[in-house]
Amino acid sequence: MPKDNCQLILALDLETRADALAMLERLGDSLGWVKIGLQLFTAYGPDFVREVADKGYHVFLDLKLHDIPNTVAKAVQSISQLPVDLLTLHGSGGAEMIEWANRARNEYAPSMNLLAVTVLTSMDAPQLRSLNVNASPEEQVRHLAKLSLGAGAQGLVCSSLELAPLRASFGDDPIIVTPGIRPKGSSADEQKRIMTPADAAAAGSDFIVVGRPILKAADPAEAARAIQAELA
Ligand code: C5P
Repeated sequence: MPKDNCQLILALDLETRADALAMLERLGDSLGWVKIGLQLFTAYGPDFVREVADKGYHVFLDLKLHDIPNTVAKAVQSISQLPVDLLTLHGSGGAEMIEWANRARNEYAPSMNLLAVTVLTSMDAPQLRSLNVNASPEEQVRHLAKLSLGAGAQGLVCSSLELAPLRASFGDDPIIVTPGIRPKGSSADEQKRIMTPADAAAAGSDFIVVGRPILKAADPAEAARAIQAELA
């Protein structure tokens, strides 16, 4: 079902804290959500998450956790002390890992939603086979999505081309976040399977993640506003 309230998340993929803060300054209130990934988190840590949230943004912390259940649950407990709204973990960590993570989430941060990453889009069929996974990437995505949602994850991260089949299988409830988005006329960069913001919303995305089309725009705030207008 089309989502009429699909929201934009900026992928804050920049090298330094100074670059990131300068970008947020330029963007002002043209957006409400920011994704902090491994690059900035490993460089600047929890303080940087607080700094971004203090500016009024919702934070999507994209750490893709994957470890034994106890370790992941403890990490979720630690992250619960931070102003984080969305957090990623790997579905391939297994049902028990996700159940433990979700118990920690329920106890310490019930307003934070856990999103399972299924098959990374950098993985193709030969790479899966090299891991002794003989399913196609599509089958494996569906399998891990079912496992993750069944184990308590509140949502999924998936490529735009997986949106329609996942919505058909799992309905409207799971939060689905979709990267690989390109407004009409912008460069695809190295992304191969892309959709426009409007098409992703129509296919059932709750949130789209956009990086370079905003970060590299001559006027990032204007680029962000144009995407919001397309979503509206
Ligand atoms: O610059 P661009 O819009 O391509 O950035 C997309 C963001 O989404 C990046 O942070 C990238 O790591 C992330 N991502 C992705 N494809 C996936 C999962 C995450 O592009 N399958």
